[in-house]
Amino acid sequence: MLVAEMDGAELVWRLSRCVVLVVLLGIGLECRAPAGEPGLSGLRIGAAWYPEQWPESEWESDVRLMEQAHFNVVRVGEFAWSTMEPSEGRYDFGWLDRAIELAAAHHIAVVLGTPTDAPPAWLTSKYPETLRVDENGVRAGHGGRRQFNYANPLYRDFCAGIVRQLALRYGHNPNVIGWQIGNEYTDESFDPATRKQFQEFLREKYKTLDNLNARWTTAYWSETYTAWSQIPLENRNGNPGLLLDHKHFVTATWRSFQDNQVTVLRSLIDARQFITTNIGGLGWSDNWDHYAITADLDLASWDDYVGQGQLDAPKNAMLNDFVRGWKNQNFWVMETEPGSVNWAPINNELVPGGTRSLAWQTVGHGADAVLYWQWRSALNGQEQYHGTIVGPDGKPEPIYAELKKLGEEFHQVGPILAGTRPRAEIALLHTYDSRWAIDFQPHTSNYDQEQVLLRFYAPLQRIAESQGESIDIVDPQRVSLAKYKFLVAPSLNVIDDALAQKLTAWVNAGGHLLLGPRSGMKDDFDALNIDRQPGPLVDVLGAKVEQFYALDADLGLVGASDAQTRQGNLAGRADIWAEELRPLSSEAKTALLYRDPGGWLESKPAMVVRRYGAGVIAYLGTLPDQEILASLLREQMPSLQKHQTKLADIPEGSPVELCVREAGAEAGRRRVYIVMNHSGHGEMLTLHRRVRSVLEGVQIEHGADASGPEDTIVLPPEGVAVLVPEAQ
Ligand code: GLA
Repeated sequence: MLVAEMDGAELVWRLSRCVVLVVLLGIGLECRAPAGEPGLSGLRIGAAWYPEQWPESEWESDVRLMEQAHFNVVRVGEFAWSTMEPSEGRYDFGWLDRAIELAAAHHIAVVLGTPTDAPPAWLTSKYPETLRVDENGVRAGHGGRRQFNYANPLYRDFCAGIVRQLALRYGHNPNVIGWQIGNEYTDESFDPATRKQFQEFLREKYKTLDNLNARWTTAYWSETYTAWSQIPLENRNGNPGLLLDHKHFVTATWRSFQDNQVTVLRSLIDARQFITTNIGGLGWSDNWDHYAITADLDLASWDDYVGQGQLDAPKNAMLNDFVRGWKNQNFWVMETEPGSVNWAPINNELVPGGTRSLAWQTVGHGADAVLYWQWRSALNGQEQYHGTIVGPDGKPEPIYAELKKLGEEFHQVGPILAGTRPRAEIALLHTYDSRWAIDFQPHTSNYDQEQVLLRFYAPLQRIAESQGESIDIVDPQRVSLAKYKFLVAPSLNVIDDALAQKLTAWVNAGGHLLLGPRSGMKDDFDALNIDRQPGPLVDVLGAKVEQFYALDADLGLVGASDAQTRQGNLAGRADIWAEELRPLSSEAKTALLYRDPGGWLESKPAMVVRRYGAGVIAYLGTLPDQEILASLLREQMPSLQKHQTKLADIPEGSPVELCVREAGAEAGRRRVYIVMNHSGHGEMLTLHRRVRSVLEGVQIEHGADASGPEDTIVLPPEGVAVLVPEAQ
């Protein structure tokens, strides 16, 4: 990220850490290796393994079965605090030494978890202030996990203590390749001390109550605060300004919780050992800003679960692209299900082959490692029915054979994929402030933002994959936009002046920006923009939103007859949300009109397009059906079609997915195609490139050269093919 693109807080945070890093480097610490590229050494596959839950006599057979399945990594320790430190200040790491050595003897590397998601009984019994308090004022007890108070200074001291012991012991262990901080940061605390921290957080941001009251318009309902101590710590039903700052506080608090441990590790471990945390919540969780939390880590990793039902391929593709966008680099799937979970209403098994194709899908979208939760179920504990790879008897479950095949494939393909990643010139824009601002007051229960994003992602993915491209999903405030040709912002609700200036400059330089509904409604205090939507981009767009409507029935859309917009006679439907646009400039061309006979929106503009500088800015004020949206998106990105090679023709709705990972610059570019058939029946795909298969068992029919390469591959149900261009 360029300094110029950082906001003030980010810059302060980064500079402060640079000072620390420079000091540390001054005492001989090397620069940190680009740990975000474990794929450089090839793909990794493994499992969560809990040696502390078994007699050591069981370990050898476990690890041998892992090695036979070509597993090359395990994650251990994230719930082992009571075994590591049975009583305050008394440590027992011998078992962990031997577990790591045994894994090494079987060519299995270790990611070590810091055990701070489940503190031991001696700690929380002696120091109950380390336990969190829920929003009803109830203090947690011992006997589960996540009972700790993430904001409590004493708990953080204990966390730093155990992490220091682990770092001193394993920070140079050649078989430890990385660290995971805690486990799925989840529950905040509402205790009085944390509430005071929140009030201090606000004082630091607003400096005066007058400023806070003005930004939050607290004259509303006489909310005006006359003392910082009056401000509540609440995460629902409050003033939108307060709720947004609550999310900022929770993000900052998890970030400092994490940094408390990262700082200890950085000072004691080898630069080659990466630091990550496994982010849960099915990827889409929004209790804190994932870009902020992963900014301080070497690698993003997440827990990709299906739960009930089968893989929703377009959604899981989107979520993996979303995860890659957190750090804009490859990532790890730190947990996924070996066929099933235990927490869904119905914990069905993924279909045979479905676990394998899910793994390949994550790799196609930028995963360099896939680990299964879990290897073997403890004999007791709250997760006895969860999917595992071997049973309580230590014998392989049916899924073992599927994962062994996957392990062999990863072993074979890893070196070819090393150093490659998805490449994109198209990006969807997403910010947590925008997501939060809409969710605080959704105005319609149908506005599911994950589904709204998917509505735009699915057709965009088809367009991109046909040209061998991927889709990035990024926070535009945190990345350079220079490489992108087309940006789509489905619900960029919060647009502040800095973001508006950045987007304006990008459009002026030739970018194509499509703003979606609810964009630019709020400022960065979650207050309404007085100029209506899109707020600070009204002048650039040359139009504004006249009114918004939550729809209780769908309505029609027709393409404006104006030849300038080349929309032709598009006809379709739109639902959930509709905004009436009003052109202010003659350069803002109406592209779509509503059909709403007798309704407010009849013949009103639904979409405007404006040429601005060397680029184009457009605003679509509604959620069209897939067909018309796909057409609009194709219309809005002529620039991409000029220089891209048409790679494949994959029709809308096809269960076949094509992913491309590549490395190197244009000339010497290395490409790897991963093709999946996410269905229970056979499928064919025609590729306009001569390819060869890396994996056995893939049927390729070389077509005639007359009209150029037409290689057809045939994929069985849940089939996967890994292909490289023949010339490569
Ligand atoms: C989460 C946790 C794991 C385990 C799995 C079960 O991802 O990180 O410890 O509980 O869920 O699916």
